[in-house]
Amino acid sequence: MREITPRKILEMKGREKIVMVTAYDYPSALIADRAGIDIIFIGDSLGMVIYGEQNTLNVSMEQMVYHTRAVSRGVKRALVLADMPFMSYEISVEEGMKNAARLIQAGADAIKIEGGYDHRKLVKKLVKSGIPVMGHTGLTPQRYLRLGGYRLMGETEEEIEEILRDAKALEKAGAFALVIEFTLADVARLVTEEVKIPTIGIGSGPYCDGQVLVWHDLLGLYENVPPFVKKYADLRDMIGLALEDYKNEVKEGKFPAPKHYWEFLDKDDFEKKK
Ligand code: KIV
Ligand code: NA
Repeated sequence: MREITPRKILEMKGREKIVMVTAYDYPSALIADRAGIDIIFIGDSLGMVIYGEQNTLNVSMEQMVYHTRAVSRGVKRALVLADMPFMSYEISVEEGMKNAARLIQAGADAIKIEGGYDHRKLVKKLVKSGIPVMGHTGLTPQRYLRLGGYRLMGETEEEIEEILRDAKALEKAGAFALVIEFTLADVARLVTEEVKIPTIGIGSGPYCDGQVLVWHDLLGLYENVPPFVKKYADLRDMIGLALEDYKNEVKEGKFPAPKHYWEFLDKDDFEKKK
């Protein structure tokens, strides 16, 4: 079992901020785990940031299983959380149960679903069966057609009530945490005060119990970054420069240099790396 468990995440509320980041493959998972991130999350955002889709509605269970397997091989310490994609849990509790189990069997320690109140029966049954669940309220990208695009949530009384109702339903059904996406900071604060389970915010201000960002957004690897993201690095530029160097050196005959081919290779080093 990995070091960070859902129980530990629950206990962090009010004591220590929870840090979550998405990852979709083995090398990224290794880096995130070594950096001490608490929750490494295979989000369905992968449809956009690594498959180039315009939204998350085309993401399949197969894709989620495949990436969960890769990520889970790289993580020893963090909690590995996998997203349930669009229509993998809405049709029936039975389908939701089966699909959640596939993600757990691919190496996830917990699953996340969008919504709360509407899925309270599923959450309860999953938790009862031993599958830890994180909920997700505020902006729920899988409903973006109905919402009329990605927009700020919780501006009207009605929306605030819905968000609170989701959070309370999730708590009651046994979820161990919930994501609050793109709401007013005061709405996220209210929810954080009203439930005993930790809230993990994205674009919802500083009062949440934790924060989550998408790998490609925070590292500067994606063009359409939401306005609430902080870019901690500009890897696109760095990778572009490295690739230009490589191209130029091949074109100019500088790579490979003698130390890169057999006659001149460091043979001891080669033996060690074999
Ligand atoms: O898929 C995702 O990356 C998410 C986070 C933004 C919370 O759901
Ligand atoms: Na998601």
